[in-house]
Amino acid sequence: MCGIVGYIGPRKVCDIVVRQLKKMEYRGYDSVGLAVVNENGIKTIKTVGRVAEIEKMVADAELSGVCGIGHTRWATHGEPSEKNAHPHSTNKVSIVHNGIIENGEELKGWLESQGYALESETDSEMIAKLLDFYYDGNPIDTLRKVSLRLEGAYALGVLFHDAPDAMFALKKESPLIVGICDDEKFLSSDLNAILEYTNRYFVLEEDEIAVIRRNKVEIFGTDNEKVEKVESVANWQAGVTDKQKFSHFMRKEIAEQPCVLSNIIRKNIKGGAPDFSADGIPDDYLRKFRRICIVACGTARYAGLAGKSWIEKFARIPVEVVVASEFRYMDPILSRETLVIFISQSGETADTLAAARLVKAAGTSAIGIVNTAGSSITREVDYNIFLEAGIEVAVASTKAYIAMLAALYLLALKLGLLTGNLTNNVHFLCNEFMDLPEILEQLLADKEKEIEEFAQFCLKFEVVFFAGRGLDYLLALEGALKLKEISYINAQAYAAGELKHGPLSLVTKDTLVIALATQGYVLKKTVSNLQEIKARGGSVLLIFKAGLDVPRELLSDSLKLPRVEDNVTPFLTAAVLQLLAYHVACAKKLDVDKPRNLAKSVTVE
Ligand code: G6P
Repeated sequence: MCGIVGYIGPRKVCDIVVRQLKKMEYRGYDSVGLAVVNENGIKTIKTVGRVAEIEKMVADAELSGVCGIGHTRWATHGEPSEKNAHPHSTNKVSIVHNGIIENGEELKGWLESQGYALESETDSEMIAKLLDFYYDGNPIDTLRKVSLRLEGAYALGVLFHDAPDAMFALKKESPLIVGICDDEKFLSSDLNAILEYTNRYFVLEEDEIAVIRRNKVEIFGTDNEKVEKVESVANWQAGVTDKQKFSHFMRKEIAEQPCVLSNIIRKNIKGGAPDFSADGIPDDYLRKFRRICIVACGTARYAGLAGKSWIEKFARIPVEVVVASEFRYMDPILSRETLVIFISQSGETADTLAAARLVKAAGTSAIGIVNTAGSSITREVDYNIFLEAGIEVAVASTKAYIAMLAALYLLALKLGLLTGNLTNNVHFLCNEFMDLPEILEQLLADKEKEIEEFAQFCLKFEVVFFAGRGLDYLLALEGALKLKEISYINAQAYAAGELKHGPLSLVTKDTLVIALATQGYVLKKTVSNLQEIKARGGSVLLIFKAGLDVPRELLSDSLKLPRVEDNVTPFLTAAVLQLLAYHVACAKKLDVDKPRNLAKSVTVE
């Protein structure tokens, strides 16, 4: 995690670096800092807190130069404090680092034996000290020597005191790109911090070193030989990273969901049937699998669980969904008939990326369902289904989740067709899906007031359970995650039938159960489980679907979703649960887009 940025060019360096940091803040916001180099050497400023703090400091400090680097931190080693903030500088160098150095203890001992005193608790400071030790006037040789001593993951932006006309970059595992314009260049952990200026960029590969000057970028491979790179071009627009009329990115991103669904419909439905030719995936490729394994983290994994349900139902192919951080270390069984699907908004989540690399090394077939084009995971798989959701800024994922659900739903239909399980139904199921953008748009417009009132009601509770059966249970998991992530309410999800096997002992009059009942075939069972809650004094807030026969006593606190086919209700339920979490967090006056202790792109294990 952490975001690193850099700029070299004719504009005011600090202003651009601060603007870049603002775009990168969702990757961490424990501390922030920047360094600028000019013919008099390097100047560094840093502070605990948000980018707004450094912006004030920049206005007072006299920092000039053509070149600067910046960092916004999500603390791994050492508390959020000024001494632990980046950049870490010596008289000769300044660095910003994203990643984790795993042989820090050993390096610390060695540096101390060389007379270096470490001032911070970070692993990153050791990189600055190592560079200082090895620097002999040749930045590339020095960076290479240091890289050979580092174990772990790193993306580094580096300034040398006697090279004021260049910034340097080096990466292993953590992502890093160089944005290209004619007479100015940018360094960034991801596209967000460059799109305002350019959509052209180089992606740095493992162990590459970049020497970035105003008019030229040179990239060197492990043998320090020059590498010819192909430019990538992003098709995302810069404007999408503004909040526009909304108070928060999360609310804006919820509002964008109908449009995200329309984009996927345009790309992945042809002639009323699912079609992945726009993603270049041949039917013959998809036809050969007898087992599927979905690997992801957080919200992406919960999307994967819905995917499992649809794939098993429509295609009758067994699917397993595994937490990426577990997959890597569980000695997974991978055969020729296995397809592994990696799901990720960022395409950079370290656990998912490590799993993708393992699968590639094993020669197993894999596809990515990824939002960020050009991201690391997309380069480790056979094919990608791109989500077309545009940049997602709020830490809590909303539109990317809906897009993941959409891609999985259509993939499940496609597999259903290819396995011969779905021949008659597929047009009907596609049509139901194609109606969703309009229905969702209307739902967001009609229900927000009601949801705000429910949010006020939720405030009375310190513990909230989410419960449902079938697809509703999988949505309950995501609903609980959203609520706990941004409102800090202890929220847990249960399969409704499991409540009686333990959780019921926690139910008192102070317990709220947010119950989902959209699946007709299990309605009666869910209703019984909710009555068991009520009988024990718990409160129930019911989200149900029009047309289902819900007993009157459960209707007093309820929210009705429009009538749609059971399989596509998750798209509506998800939006309601997102809005509910959003309004609870707003009512508690919390920082909705940047919840405490979290970050959007988790590039450390
Ligand atoms: C972090 C974010 C979550 C996200 C998860 C996986 O924990 O806070 O919102 O679901 O990472 O991220 P990915 O980019 O792989 O989807």
